[in-house]
Formats: sequence, structure tokens, C-alpha cells
Amino acid sequence: MPSLTAPDRSLVRDNIASVSVRELAERFGTPLFVYDESPILQRIADLQAFDAIRFAQKACSNLAIMDTVRRHGCLVDAVSTGEIHRALAAGYQTVGNPPPIVYTADIFDRESLDLVVEREIHVNCGSPDMITMLGQRAPGREITLRINPGFGHGHSQKTNTGGDHSKHGIWHEDLPECLKQAKQFDLRVTGLHVHIGSGTDLKHLSQVCQAMERFARLAGEHLVALSAGGGLPIPYRSEESFIDLDAYYQLWDATRNRLAEELGRPLRLEVEPGRYLVAESGYLIAEIRAVKRMGDNTFYLVDAGFNNLARPVMYGAYHPMSICSVGDDSADAREAREVVVGGPLCESGDIFTQREGGYVCTQPLPEANIGDLLIVENAGAYGFVMGSNYNSKPLAAEVLVRDGWPHLIRARQNCHELFAGECIPTT
Ligand code: LLP
Repeated sequence: MPSLTAPDRSLVRDNIASVSVRELAERFGTPLFVYDESPILQRIADLQAFDAIRFAQKACSNLAIMDTVRRHGCLVDAVSTGEIHRALAAGYQTVGNPPPIVYTADIFDRESLDLVVEREIHVNCGSPDMITMLGQRAPGREITLRINPGFGHGHSQKTNTGGDHSKHGIWHEDLPECLKQAKQFDLRVTGLHVHIGSGTDLKHLSQVCQAMERFARLAGEHLVALSAGGGLPIPYRSEESFIDLDAYYQLWDATRNRLAEELGRPLRLEVEPGRYLVAESGYLIAEIRAVKRMGDNTFYLVDAGFNNLARPVMYGAYHPMSICSVGDDSADAREAREVVVGGPLCESGDIFTQREGGYVCTQPLPEANIGDLLIVENAGAYGFVMGSNYNSKPLAAEVLVRDGWPHLIRARQNCHELFAGECIPTT
């Protein structure tokens, strides 16, 4: 696996994967999500040492993206009925070895329980109640248990999925009881899964291996698969770097080998990335519609807001940004200045440059004119998928660039679709 460093960032960008940003905006409109397919393929290649890469589709679940990862060998994780239907629509089979689709959750709602029972979808149970519900409906099944190891870590407290403040997984001390419970229903625990958080680091990810060894010794009877979960970070800031994937794999491989020897059977090693596969491929293009001063601050207001990209308002997340001039001059020749970048929503928090806690900050960007384009980068993971219709804003369009050609992969929502399904009572 290659040792990767963060790319140098420019504050000016006139193309995405060799396609002109200006042409993309003219042809498809703004706000627009554009995905470059090639980094996705590169990231899949980086993880080839693992026996299975299971794409956490919640990061970017457009069917065209799912089709790409499927054709390049990835399995898929689904966390809802909708995500199971997406996986099926993208060409995944329901049943196989290893299971093509795994439903991972902490509850079954009524629909998802019906669906996994009817279609025989493999389930990764995140609560004792899930074991009971599945056991009552489908005894004899193989299942995976998602364990909360008692610790976790994420880029934000909101993305930390371990420890006693987290709702996720089966509490590690309850594992022996859950194994008994599974046995009562004749459910065979063939997999163990630990995911401690999103955007974590090697130090925390490595601790998961030791925990997994303890769990596997308790749950080894029918065990055939270990999942390291997701959480692999990507560098958003130029001073950040990728984690040492080789070191990460070696730790897991050593753990898996020790356990396989003890159990006397091979163990499949899965990894479940979302962000790592798709974050860098995605760009959000918006048009600058106002440039105004508020005391000492200069604001660029664009036509995309937290209805399109919620990460800054939710986590104070930083995204690199750049400008594409639509005038005759290149933005390269313009001076950079510190600016606040905000969206169109009627809410003060609709700011792309903010720190956790809602504190507005600035980023350097070239001087810009109305009509210039702002590009929010590394927006492929948890971008479009966390979009909403707040302020009755239609969902953005999505475009995939493959081999230098842009393909529309989701049409922009129109205003009629916004209130389709609503009705005014007649009495
Ligand atoms: N597996 C499970 C069970 C998960 O809950 C998640 C993410 C993943 C895998 C994929 O994690 P990743 O490799 O992407 O870190 N909206 C937040 C991230 C929430 C992650 C939720 N679960 C953000 O924008 O940073």
C-alpha cells in the first residue's frame, strides 16, 4: 500500500478531472455536486490487502457511485430499508458468501425487519433487542454482532460511536449474555464488528484490534469474519495526512492470523470505509451571489447552504475552497483575502467557514465578483446525502465525471417535487 500525503491546495480551480468548472455550472446549474470517479478507484485499490471492502453507502449513496464501487469489487453496508433498496437497485445480490449486503443498525423498524427476513439479508445486530426480534422471525440464521468496546473516537464528539455515551452497538460486557440469547434462537454468530467512530486516527483504531481479540475468544464457536469497521480519515487541511494504511492492515492481519490459528479455521477480514472512498472525489460548485462587508468581515454569499452541505454547521468541519472566475481574467491573478463564506438560508448558522460551536471564522480566497464560482472541495462524503429541503430549497443535481466526460447522475429537484405528497384538508 502506498504511503500517501495530502495534496497541495490551490485557491483557484478552473477544472475538475479536466472538465471546465464553468462549463459544468453552465450546463447543469448550481448548486451542483460533481464527483471525479478516479480517486474512488484509487482509494479502493489502496485497500486491496483486506479480504473485503464493504462500502458504507451512507457517505454517498447515489446509484451511480454504488455501481462504480460494486463493479470494482466492493461489498456494501446498509443502515436502513432505503439503503437496502438502493443496494438492490445498484445491482447487489441479497445473498452470497461473503454476504453482498449487510444491514447494520441498532434497531429494526418494522419495515427493515420485514425486508431482511423476506430477502434473507445478513444482519449486523447492534442491540440485544435486534437479536430477539430476528430470532423470533428467522431462527437458524447467521448473524454478526456489532460490539461497543467501551471506548471510541471521531473527528467530532458527534461522530464518536464508542463508550457509554454512545447509543451504538452491544455493550462489550453484555457479549456473553447475547451469545446465549443468540443460541436460544439458533442464530449462529459468524461475524464480529467494531466501529469506534468516523474520522478517527491510527492510535484509536489500533486499540480496536486488542478488543476484537477478547471478543473473538468469547464468540469464536462459528466465527468466520471480522470487521474492522470504518473510520479511516482523509486529510481536509493541507497540514493533515492520511494514516499509515500498511501499519493499520498489519495490525489487523496479525490479529486475524492469531485468532484463525486458535480457532483452527480461516477468518475473513473486512474493512467498512465510507469517507475514505468518496470524500476526495466530490466537489460542491456554487455561484457567488453577493459580496458584502459586515464591520471588519467580508462575506461571500453563495447559492449553496447547509441544506446542501451540513458538515460545517453540524461539526464545525473545515473544507478547502477555491474560486473559478467566470470573467476574462483568471482568479490566479487576484489577491487573496480572508473571507467568511455563507449560504442563502434564513439562519445565522448557514456559514461554511465556522468552527465547532458555531464560531464564524475566515478562509483565504481570491477576490471574487458576482457570478464567479465557489468550489467546496472534499465534499464527496456526507455531502449530498445529508442535504435537506430546509427553506424549501430543492436538492442539488449530481454529476459523475468518468474518463473526462460528465454524466448527470441525479437531476436537480424541482419546486413541484418539494411539496408532492402534501395536501390541504378539504373540511
Ligand atoms: N460503519 C458504521 C457502522 C458507521 O456507523 C459508519 C459511519 C461507517 C462504517 C463509515 O465511517 P467512515 O469510514 O465514513 O468514517 N456525518 C459525519 C460522519 C458520520 C458517520 C456515521 N457512521 C461526517 O460528516 O463526518
